[in-house]
Amino acid sequence: MHLQSHTQLFGKILKDLELSSKENNSLGELAICDTDDGTVTLYSHNYKESFHSNSGALKEATEKYINPAELYRFKKGKKIVLLDVCLGLGYNTGCFLEYFKKNELHVEWWGLELDKRPLKFAINNNAFNSCWSEDVLRIFHSINNNDNWNEHLGKGRILWGDARKKLQEIPNSKKFDIILLDAFSPQKCPHLWTSEFLNALSRKLALKGRLITYCTASAVRKSLKDSQLEVLSTVPIDRNSSLWSIGTVGIASDARTKLNLNSGLLRPLSRMEEEHLLTRAAIPYRDPNGTDDIKEIIKRRLKEQQKSLLESTSAWKNKWISAKSTFID
Ligand SMILES: C[S@@+](CC[C@H](N)C(=O)[O-])C[C@H]1O[C@@H](n2cnc3c(N)ncnc32)[C@H](O)[C@@H]1O
Repeated sequence: MHLQSHTQLFGKILKDLELSSKENNSLGELAICDTDDGTVTLYSHNYKESFHSNSGALKEATEKYINPAELYRFKKGKKIVLLDVCLGLGYNTGCFLEYFKKNELHVEWWGLELDKRPLKFAINNNAFNSCWSEDVLRIFHSINNNDNWNEHLGKGRILWGDARKKLQEIPNSKKFDIILLDAFSPQKCPHLWTSEFLNALSRKLALKGRLITYCTASAVRKSLKDSQLEVLSTVPIDRNSSLWSIGTVGIASDARTKLNLNSGLLRPLSRMEEEHLLTRAAIPYRDPNGTDDIKEIIKRRLKEQQKSLLESTSAWKNKWISAKSTFID
């Protein structure tokens, strides 16, 4: 993109953000939306973004979180330590808990979420309730009423508040097999995609632990790489899809870790994706003290992009553009 139009675009983004940051990064008013798989989701007026895509909340949880976790790796009876960053209505957590129950795995669950309203809405919604077994519904109610749960399946605890702060309350000794990161998109919610926050999450992974997200932004992938994770791309289930990737998985590995990619659900980054990490789009979101607001973080990155000598992302796009590729900046 030409530098001037880049600046104009960010000018508009900053103006939009000025409106939304008035309520201090909160969700603002929420609206209910139906999705194509028959599940219900919410739309945040402050973030101007839905919690899920139109294709379906349950579909997204399955394709972008359950599948890339490759849970069949774990033997019956094993305890999985899982962190859900941005619980929202709870679809991702619900899908994992149902899998654990069905496959006799135990779980130690941790959740981070700013706003109690999405879960409260969800457990009072018939369409949402019809997705889950009695056991999982009981867990959702306990999170809502008591902030924790203790059941045959395992135990769990939610920390309400800004995930940047609340993450620090999880004991350092706690290492996660799975971290789910489902914040709003980086342009809207940059504070949960900064190099500092992603690095802090990465340090909480057990060896071979996976940080799983729907996000394919190069700034996010670059930060995960800089945090020493092995970064893989989530392959679209629909082979006819025009998307080249539906998410990212960062795996904590050491020299002896062998990645098994036989399932075909994950693959190494392609040459096109690797080159994306060398463009200005890969300049990370930064939040040195973990307290900056949205506008501050976007502004800081914009300044860094303007000064950068890296290849422009439009040059990269032009090089790789083809009828079949859909690009996500
Ligand atoms: C895309 S939605 C998550 C959807 C959710 N995973 C589900 O399955 O329903 C993003 C969520 O991030 C939460 N959020 C936004 N800023 C946050 C912050 N600073 N700390 C923790 N949660 C935050 C919002 O309240 C919202 O519930």
